[in-house]
Amino acid sequence: MGTFGTPGPTTAGSHDALVERLRRAGCVFAEQEAELLEQAASDPQERERMCARREAGEFLEHVIGTVDICGEKLAVGPGDFVPRQRTALLIEAGIAEARRRRRPVVVEAYCGVAPVAALIGRRVSGARVHASDCDPRPLVHARANLPPGAGVHPGSGLDALPTALEGTVDLLVAVPPYVPARQWDLMPREAREHEPISALVAGRDGLEQVRHLLTEAPRWLAPGGVLLIEMHRDQAPPALAAAGRVRAYAECGSVAGEDGETVLVRARTPVSAAASAPIPAAVPAPSDAVRSVLPGPAPDLVLLRRVRDRIDRDHAQPWDVEMLARSVHLSGGHLSRRFREEYGESPYSYLMTRRIERAMALLRHTDRSVTDICTAVGFSSLGTFSTRFKELLGVSPSAYRVRGAEVLDSMPPCIARRVTRPIRNREAAPPGGV
Ligand SMILES: C[S@@+](CC[C@H](N)C(=O)[O-])C[C@H]1O[C@@H](n2cnc3c(N)ncnc32)[C@H](O)[C@@H]1O
Repeated sequence: MGTFGTPGPTTAGSHDALVERLRRAGCVFAEQEAELLEQAASDPQERERMCARREAGEFLEHVIGTVDICGEKLAVGPGDFVPRQRTALLIEAGIAEARRRRRPVVVEAYCGVAPVAALIGRRVSGARVHASDCDPRPLVHARANLPPGAGVHPGSGLDALPTALEGTVDLLVAVPPYVPARQWDLMPREAREHEPISALVAGRDGLEQVRHLLTEAPRWLAPGGVLLIEMHRDQAPPALAAAGRVRAYAECGSVAGEDGETVLVRARTPVSAAASAPIPAAVPAPSDAVRSVLPGPAPDLVLLRRVRDRIDRDHAQPWDVEMLARSVHLSGGHLSRRFREEYGESPYSYLMTRRIERAMALLRHTDRSVTDICTAVGFSSLGTFSTRFKELLGVSPSAYRVRGAEVLDSMPPCIARRVTRPIRNREAAPPGGV
């Protein structure tokens, strides 16, 4: 993709050209991304550099230097973990918990750029917020996002916190790394290449840091203090079991997000007479101490969209349908059937089309060899690449490089755009019928 940044017909000169380049680079929301790049860039040269970085697969947020979450803009930089939209669930729950106390002491552990503490600090009057992380890089942006006077503590786990906070924390929130090690290969490419693995992966079951939090939090929590941890819904049962073994908690439970995937595990220490503003909810009887409110079956449309977005962004990865299905906890057969019902083609066919689209762009806009492009877009065999290319476009990749460019040069842009979309009516059934 390196030659995309060179001047000439491929520069991001006009809005339409920018959208087209982003779309061809696999950006699902190319129009919106183009607008954000235009707003963030101070001049055409910077816009060009930003577009090239995005084409090379960097997070949009790293490129523009901000992330929007819950209606607030936060600073984020290259190499930082980019706060995910799913964390809005923890932010809103955290704000609600914090508002139940006067001048609550709030800590975001494993804070990255501190989205949760920053939003609580901005929206809960009187909140005294602290944030900690073992990586000093995101802490630079955390400081910018947090209100003046917030405590920022570099260091590992809860050991990073100053001892003065022991027994005083009203609300401890965390999005620790929680990806199980075996799922690393299934992560989107931008995460694998542009976020530290230590920000994402936490041991075999992804719960290493969650267990640390559950066992260590009581030392820091005030009476009636609440711990809220974000994780995947499949991790909630073992996390709740671990919480149930910590005698210091009076109550443990979970709250499910509407996305069907994100869950917050909530644990609370007992309220004592000394607590200044106890939680009004009744402390449950011991038999109710561990309660789970897990969601019903995940709505599979959300999962299908996720698979489609993953293919759009990571079509060069060596996916097969079973891997795609596993990444959203569906069976291969179910994914293939439902994907076809919703989008009119199999996931395999959709993946092939995206790869060929990308190859078309590289053939037209770079001088990389056909073999190099074949590998770059995710084919392992030149023969398969050429056959599929010809099936879809009626010409070989080399012929397309010459003739495609000529044809497009003489066409009005709106028609040329249509021609650059592969036609699928001659597509052969993929092996295995996926
Ligand atoms: C999934 S990110 C979440 C960041 C932030 N809370 C958010 O939602 O954007 C996890 C963060 O935990 C930090 N981290 C990983 N292991 C840690 C450890 N042992 N102690 C402290 N921080 C750790 C990483 O540096 C990373 O910033």
